[in-house]
Amino acid sequence: MCGIVGYVGARSAQDVVIDGLRRMEYRGYDSAGIALVHDGRLASRKRAGKLGNLEKAISEEPLPASELGLGHTRWATHGAPNDVNAHPHLGATGRVALVHNGIIENFADLRARLEADDHVLISETDSEVAAHLLELQVESGVDLTVAMQRVCQQLEGAFTLVAIDAQDPDRVVAARRNSPLVVGIGEGENFLGSDVAAFIEHTREALELGQDQVVTITRDGVSVTAFDGSPAEGRRFHVDWDLSAAEKDGHDWFMRKEIFEQPRAVADSLLGRRTRSGQLQLDEMRLSDQELRDIDKIIIIAAGTSFYAGMVAKYAIEHWCRIPVEVELSSEFRYRDPILDYSTLVVAISQSGETADTLQAIRHARTQRSKVLAICNTNGSTIPRESDAVIYTHAGPEIGVASTKGFLTQLIACYLLALYLAQVKGTRYGDEITQVMEQLEAMPAHIETVLAGSEAIYDLAREHVGTRSFLFLGRHAGYPVALEGALKLKELAYLHAEGFAAGELKHGPIALVEDGLPVLCVVPPEGRDQLHDKMISGIQEVRARGARTICLAEEGDTSIEPYADVLIRLPRVPVLLQPLVAVVPLQLFACELASAMGHDVDQPRNLAKSVTVE
Ligand code: M6R
Repeated sequence: MCGIVGYVGARSAQDVVIDGLRRMEYRGYDSAGIALVHDGRLASRKRAGKLGNLEKAISEEPLPASELGLGHTRWATHGAPNDVNAHPHLGATGRVALVHNGIIENFADLRARLEADDHVLISETDSEVAAHLLELQVESGVDLTVAMQRVCQQLEGAFTLVAIDAQDPDRVVAARRNSPLVVGIGEGENFLGSDVAAFIEHTREALELGQDQVVTITRDGVSVTAFDGSPAEGRRFHVDWDLSAAEKDGHDWFMRKEIFEQPRAVADSLLGRRTRSGQLQLDEMRLSDQELRDIDKIIIIAAGTSFYAGMVAKYAIEHWCRIPVEVELSSEFRYRDPILDYSTLVVAISQSGETADTLQAIRHARTQRSKVLAICNTNGSTIPRESDAVIYTHAGPEIGVASTKGFLTQLIACYLLALYLAQVKGTRYGDEITQVMEQLEAMPAHIETVLAGSEAIYDLAREHVGTRSFLFLGRHAGYPVALEGALKLKELAYLHAEGFAAGELKHGPIALVEDGLPVLCVVPPEGRDQLHDKMISGIQEVRARGARTICLAEEGDTSIEPYADVLIRLPRVPVLLQPLVAVVPLQLFACELASAMGHDVDQPRNLAKSVTVE
């Protein structure tokens, strides 16, 4: 997730772009860059780090005046967050500048073809190939709009591209597939942005682009085509949000926005993971197949929500790969003198990549000669830097302190790791792996279905203002979901909330149950290992003692109906993948209840987004 701005009009393009980037910085701040057209040439500056570094660079070496330009603030995916990988990227002769948000899945093939034709690509990004391809097109004599249409037809994946041509001082061209882009419509000027916050200060008239469209903005107009050049139309709308709502895409809290971004975050985290022949590929795996085959034990270390993702991973890895997995809180790990050697793979899960407990744990593991694989959302952070291999999630920056899309994308990375190990070790047939990948690829639509029911969950949450205590029950992969649901409620609503494995309740915690106590139950899908029926027994036990049961159960499960005071339906998915849909109502519930109680949902008391002390 990156922020993009484009402008053409009568104002200083530098001012419009820099102001727009300031409002896009929440989308990523690994680097920032700008390019302007002046006198038939491009002028560009880019710097790693926050926008302030770019502004400093411009103050030291000012840019020429210009009324046309583009800018980018980066959330790194391919390539470290440094100056070279910062956008804009230029074509081979420096005629075209381009910025990109998304992932170009076939960039390796395209790059190899360009390099075979003597192109020198200086960055590690997938984006630079698009700049070179675009420049080849304009050099062949077509205008930037046609060039963009032709290039987009060669690209696979998700992308928003915005480009300018030094020899065309009146046109900014952009394209979108599966990544956001809106046009701001002004008088004698037009704007482009990843969202309306980029230009809301100048205009509230906007145009939303459809899939696979190319848009050209000039001072006097906006024209839209499909990738094949046929005429197309965007959807006009008026923005009535204020600036702070605009940054949150109309939501009241970043957390709520991030919950609703989950279908996209999950889809992005799955992009580019399969080769044309259907084999799984993990770009930064960096451990050889032999090293992976030698692994006889996996220890997953993580904290908080990431720890619960690790618990789900244990079920998936053991089931698909038959490798024993331990899951350990990173703060406890090194103090128990764990048994580690070169055949142990330590998997460190961390959204931020900076959690001190997890960092110290991986340092310890490496001193014992174990290989460390990080699952991380933050490119270039310390944990992946100090690990032997990485699987990056592509959630984009998570700003709400309570992790939501971070968790779902960690689950995706865990499933990918499990399937990859199964592929390398041969514990699952190729068609079984393909089947699970297809089930994963269907998840964004299932998550959308759950989100479409958010109003009913909000009503339920508001009914519980004043309730002091909650229990959450789950079994199997639903047990970590119960723990995560309870954690969300604790950290946001400051209420007593505990998650239990449903079968464990009768060994003590059932004494907590009293009349009216809300118990949220994650019901496994019907039909495997009696899990479902055993869960119903647990639900009956708490109902018999007066609990009010709020059951999350799959569509079509009628046997749960007599035992549920409230029933929240989930899409039908396999039991191992159910956490991806089951946790979403719990996130919505906690967010709404905390909001209704008047709490600061994005910055709950006593917490920090990244805990960098042990
Ligand atoms: O950045 P990390 O994933 O390493 O963070 C781990 C925990 O601090 C984090 O998940 C925390 O529990 C969140 N506040 C949960 O919402």
